[in-house]
Amino acid sequence: MVHCARAVSVVICLAGVRPVAAGNCGVAVQRVADAPDPAFEPLEVGDPNSADLEDLLFSEPSPKEWRKMRKQCQSGESESCLTFGIEDWTQNSFNALVHQGVTSGRPDAQDYALVRESCGGQVACKTIEGKVRIVGYAVELGGGINLTQLSRLQHLTALVLRGPNKTDLQGHSWPSPRFLRLEAPTKGAIHAAARALQGQPGHRLQTLQISGRQDVLRWTPVDLAEFCGLDLVHFSAFVIHVAGGALPECWQEMTKLRNFYCSNCMLVHPPTALRGLQSLRSFVAFRQWEMVPCAVQRLSRGGCKASWETRHLYKEGVRAESTGDWGDFQQGPSLICPQHSFGFAFEEFVKLGWSNIEKVWLDGNFLTGQIPANLAEQWPKLRSLDLYDNDMEGPLPDSLGMLPFVKLQLHANRFSGLVPQSVWRLTERRDLILGLQENVNLTGCVAPLQHWEHGVPGTLIRPCNEDL
Ligand SMILES: *[C@@H]1O[C@H](CO)[C@@H](O)[C@H](O)[C@H]1NC(C)=O
Ligand SMILES: *[C@@H]1O[C@H](CO)[C@@H](O)[C@H](O)[C@H]1NC(C)=O
Ligand SMILES: *[C@@H]1O[C@H](CO)[C@@H](O)[C@H](O)[C@H]1NC(C)=O
Repeated sequence: MVHCARAVSVVICLAGVRPVAAGNCGVAVQRVADAPDPAFEPLEVGDPNSADLEDLLFSEPSPKEWRKMRKQCQSGESESCLTFGIEDWTQNSFNALVHQGVTSGRPDAQDYALVRESCGGQVACKTIEGKVRIVGYAVELGGGINLTQLSRLQHLTALVLRGPNKTDLQGHSWPSPRFLRLEAPTKGAIHAAARALQGQPGHRLQTLQISGRQDVLRWTPVDLAEFCGLDLVHFSAFVIHVAGGALPECWQEMTKLRNFYCSNCMLVHPPTALRGLQSLRSFVAFRQWEMVPCAVQRLSRGGCKASWETRHLYKEGVRAESTGDWGDFQQGPSLICPQHSFGFAFEEFVKLGWSNIEKVWLDGNFLTGQIPANLAEQWPKLRSLDLYDNDMEGPLPDSLGMLPFVKLQLHANRFSGLVPQSVWRLTERRDLILGLQENVNLTGCVAPLQHWEHGVPGTLIRPCNEDL
């Protein structure tokens, strides 16, 4: 604790970005056991081979994983390729461009001139009209390459800028990609990018991704109103501090939005700006304020809890100390705190009239209330619902079993009463992930199922044969 306090006082002296201190700062990280207890895992039925393209937004799949994904998603939407609205996915993923581009040829001399090794960029190419063209570029600007040079690449579709600051982005000609990802941008860079994109007549940006730094105490502030005026199809952000904790009302103008993804965005208000949005297929906003213990100690006003993954050591197995590395947030102990999280009734989402929604992930928040009995009427196309690790209560409605779920995660809440037969019938599906565990007042009986052969852990659900 002393060590950490010293570390904290050192980081306070730094101007600007303050890294998170290492260690646990005396914060007790509650955990259930020394190793993951498989019985507490959600039930996986069948061969969960299905690939969720959206899961790859901020990850770097191995070439092997990528091949599998390509195979499953080649023919567009299929049972095992969960695109959740990511149409035209090869254009919308830089990963796709890298992996597919490399197989379709190498850049020719003319294009290759731009790809100096010293600039540390990654390039993806495609054969267009018989010529190999650069279609994707991931780069740290400055030194080897600047934005004006990139703007001359006429076929550039996907652009990933690593660690850009305001100077990198202002006073340059801008390329006109369909996909733009800003990785660890400064506040000024986000502002400059928003201004440039707004001022770009005929821009064709469809996908905007912002991935903020996780190893700092204060996350990068972003005013989402700066992006109003862009007609985005996909928006994703991870680890940013959304101004006012709300999606600004001007987002109503984004009538083509299919995927909204904002996890660790410090959102606290229901996204009423997206009310009635028929284009919306996927809304992902899990763990709005997940922090390492030393950040919790400095920033929270209490009411925090160790995340479900931390409690069950599903992150890196045994590590209980934060190291101060960015990876702690993903792999080390983390706590979720109510101050900058969703803490209202789940029904506020259901009321928004998203008739075509297929995926809603809200786990690791502080949502209250019940699952409305008319969920299947409101969201008739829902296939993936993540509500685990919230404060929800009440019975599970019969209508849940009417939906074509591939994932239904309800564990670690306060749901109660008898689990309807319709929900058990979901386990007859070919692929299903079902989480019911840790709802202490949930009752009923379950036919012996894989690791739930003794009933569902943390509930009153017992094997059916025990009732005989
Ligand atoms: C912005 O980043 C570049 C490198 O890309 C660096 O040379 C420059 O000093 C940075 N500017 C500021 C204001 O930090
Ligand atoms: C971009 O880089 C090129 C080549 O190094 C240079 O000629 C040009 O002045 C730079 N443009 C800006 C706006 O910095
Ligand atoms: C479970 O039910 C009992 C009895 O009704 C109640 O006292 C308790 O608070 C419930 N537990 C939870 C976590 O809801």
